[in-house]
Amino acid sequence: MKIAVLGTGYVGLSTGVCLSQIGHQVTCLDINEQKINQLRNGISPIYEPGLEELLTANMEAGRLRFTTSQTEALTQTEIIIVAVGTPQGEDGAADLSFLVQAAKDISIFINQDTIIVIKSTVPVGTNDFIKKLIEDHCCFKVKMVSNPEFLRQGSAIEDTMKADRIIIGSENEEAARKIHEMYRPLHVPVIVTSTKSAEMIKYASNAFLATKISYINEIANLCEVVGADVQDVARGMGKDKRIGEAFLNAGIGYGGSCFPKDVKALLHTAGAYGVKFPLLKETIAINDYQRELLVLKALKRFGGLKGKKIAMLGLAFKPETDDMREAPSIPLSAALTKYGAEVVAYDPVASENARKIIGDSIKYAGSIAEAVDEADAVLIVTEWNEIKSIDVAEMLTKMKEPIIFDGRNCFPEETIRACRSVEYYPIGKPAIII
Ligand code: UGA
Repeated sequence: MKIAVLGTGYVGLSTGVCLSQIGHQVTCLDINEQKINQLRNGISPIYEPGLEELLTANMEAGRLRFTTSQTEALTQTEIIIVAVGTPQGEDGAADLSFLVQAAKDISIFINQDTIIVIKSTVPVGTNDFIKKLIEDHCCFKVKMVSNPEFLRQGSAIEDTMKADRIIIGSENEEAARKIHEMYRPLHVPVIVTSTKSAEMIKYASNAFLATKISYINEIANLCEVVGADVQDVARGMGKDKRIGEAFLNAGIGYGGSCFPKDVKALLHTAGAYGVKFPLLKETIAINDYQRELLVLKALKRFGGLKGKKIAMLGLAFKPETDDMREAPSIPLSAALTKYGAEVVAYDPVASENARKIIGDSIKYAGSIAEAVDEADAVLIVTEWNEIKSIDVAEMLTKMKEPIIFDGRNCFPEETIRACRSVEYYPIGKPAIII
């Protein structure tokens, strides 16, 4: 099939690459010329394991192209997949301006009836609104398909090629069938719904996972005061198939470009229809608290942080990505510097992006060893493999004081107990002080 993908962010790029991999002719369109030039040279603008290899292989096979030309991408194309960003607007609602622009472009450049697939995360009713917008501005008919995306950054290719499910929401049977056909080589279970249900499935899924994380974080905080171990508790809970093992890792809160904005957008939609949804408000409140928890723990331990050298290991919102959007390292850095601490951070790939957001209020180290040198305490912020496999005992010898606040429960108890002298403060588990 001949497919155009509009937008080359995480979702658009991974989708385009994977659709070409299963044999379709894909043209990816973006207004950012620099990004398109990079992609044409086989360079991925984002850090995503496995993406670059598939990108080059499919470009070489002639199935994948990149362009800034709307004519090239949108004319004579039977399927247009829209994967532009829908960032958080000022009032918490999703900002649809990129999507509206995409719809306007589509109405100008299509020259036949076309299937429009909305992959961007959009509030309920947006597919209807986009259909009207396009058809009001051109003389062709569009068949809308809501096809939300469930890929995670860091495992985008795997999540697309081996998805748990594909949601196809459409009022048009023929269009739904066509999109089902497009995905058939993936052999993934397909659920066909109305467009509104498909739009809701995306928000309901992300908000549920965010709530699951806030729930386990709250259980962790309770575990800490009663002396239980949240990892054992999560293990015990997760074996119940009705609960499930995934997303029960307690830590320093969810971040990234999706959960924070989608929970707020769903709350906004509920409010617009007069539904209060207090559960979501609590999910957000717990997460806000959790994001600064390590600073509260450090303040409790030291009394004050003025002049303390704090090593922050990890900056990205999660491992295997250089994405800093809504990363807990941002509020943590702000709070630490506000209390007068000197922060030296290390991240295997996100330092450059972090500097653009956090700026020079903290220092950026080129290695773990440099960051922890003479530090009064270490904060573990992102669970990169490189950080999980640190030789803890050796690291402690480089520090001024052997104190670790582990926001991701990276180290097994035996590793910590093998250290000669240590103060280890994990999340939702008893501290170990030797
Ligand atoms: C999330 C969803 O998992 C995807 O299904 C969805 O497609 C995507 O949003 C999106 O809407 O585009 P992503 O933001 O890439 O994916 O990251 P996740 O792996 O879900 O992690 C989100 C946050 O939750 C991270 O900050 C992570 O550290 C945190 N988390 C995750 C926990 O604190 N505990 C857990 O057990 C799991």
